[in-house]
Amino acid sequence: MSQHREFNLERIRQDFPFLTAPTGLGRHYLDNAATSQKPQAVIEAMSKQLIQLNANVHRGVYRLSEQATVAFETSRKKVAGFLGGVKLSEVIFTSGTTEAINLIARSYGDQQLKAGDEILLTVAEHHSNIIPWQLLAKRSGATLRYIPLDPSNRLDLDIAQKMLTKKTKIVAFAHVSNVLGYINPVKKLAAMARQVGAISLVDGAQAAPHLSINVDDLGCDFYAFSSHKMLGPSGVGVLYGREQLLEAMPPFLGGGEMINKVDLHTSTWAALPHKFEAGTPAITEVIALGAAIDYLQQFAPEDIHRHVLTLSRTVVDRLKQDFPEVRIFCEPGDDWLGIVAFHHQRIHAHDLAAIADSFDVCIRAGHHCAQPLMSYLKVDASSRVSPYLYNNRDDIEQFFAALTKARTLL
Ligand SMILES: Cc1ncc(COP(=O)(O)O)c(C=O)c1O
Repeated sequence: MSQHREFNLERIRQDFPFLTAPTGLGRHYLDNAATSQKPQAVIEAMSKQLIQLNANVHRGVYRLSEQATVAFETSRKKVAGFLGGVKLSEVIFTSGTTEAINLIARSYGDQQLKAGDEILLTVAEHHSNIIPWQLLAKRSGATLRYIPLDPSNRLDLDIAQKMLTKKTKIVAFAHVSNVLGYINPVKKLAAMARQVGAISLVDGAQAAPHLSINVDDLGCDFYAFSSHKMLGPSGVGVLYGREQLLEAMPPFLGGGEMINKVDLHTSTWAALPHKFEAGTPAITEVIALGAAIDYLQQFAPEDIHRHVLTLSRTVVDRLKQDFPEVRIFCEPGDDWLGIVAFHHQRIHAHDLAAIADSFDVCIRAGHHCAQPLMSYLKVDASSRVSPYLYNNRDDIEQFFAALTKARTLL
């Protein structure tokens, strides 16, 4: 028998106080690729920590601090399990995906890259997985190259294979694009990178809330994700890194917690993972991320995925059927996570989002922090609908009511 909790939508919805909040503002929340709502269990974990366990971690000799440290480090164990059972030394808490990628660009990148080297990205990256590499390229003299998409907007692996050479040192790409929703062939691309001696970094910001992750099986060197997109609080994220690589890397930020011995002119560093965790961490948030992982792991990931896909396929099918003037950027298939981004010939994405708001529907409008991809797709902005486990058919109905109204008004 399955160990998992039954996927009962009505019961799940009761776990999310947001859905019954008195203001009702944004009740039909379909912007989950931007951030997720929080279950009661996460809210309670935060308030419990703040009320009962508030002390700094790793430094107190009194019981309150010791217990706070245990709660904090228990979260690290949960994250290690969530990533498929990695070593605790390989789990670094950051402020989010963005900081995790910047950490690698600064620490690994500054140490390893020089003029003539190449960094390979894809044209479908979030700005968080472009700008740190642009900055690194400027500092080091390395060159940025971009894997294009095939006609279905999936990564073109044949071209990627040709672009990978001995000059390639870093290959950084999203597990799932926040615009296209395609699950990239991480295993293949990470193996291709390794073949030429490059390291791979996977931006898991969109994948972690939906998929079962096993970094060993994926074969990547680094994996980054954010807590706030997977039911946890903002302000915390995770960088997984292979121990051997992390050991050889210099610290990213300096300060308390990351040191072993400090003299006036030289210092030595704490062991992993603390070498990369300078300063007081986001204690409450890290502990609540553990609660978010517990909450998510009650369910079989396939059940969450199936539910999201059912809603997202409805969106795509109805858009195709009733709104032929809309261009959809994805084609639902086995490699699709259920993010629906589209461009309406006549209605600007911002106008549609404003009208949707009058129906208490939240959808994303704009460039989705992926301006190069918007240029590649030859649009200035697009709309995005991204359901999650607590959304229901009524949310989708309300979205279509808003779209229909927008079409009559504009
Ligand atoms: C694919 C992808 N990468 C990176 C990020 C950045 O995440 P954060 O702002 O939590 O650091 C996002 C957030 O939207 C994303 O969708």
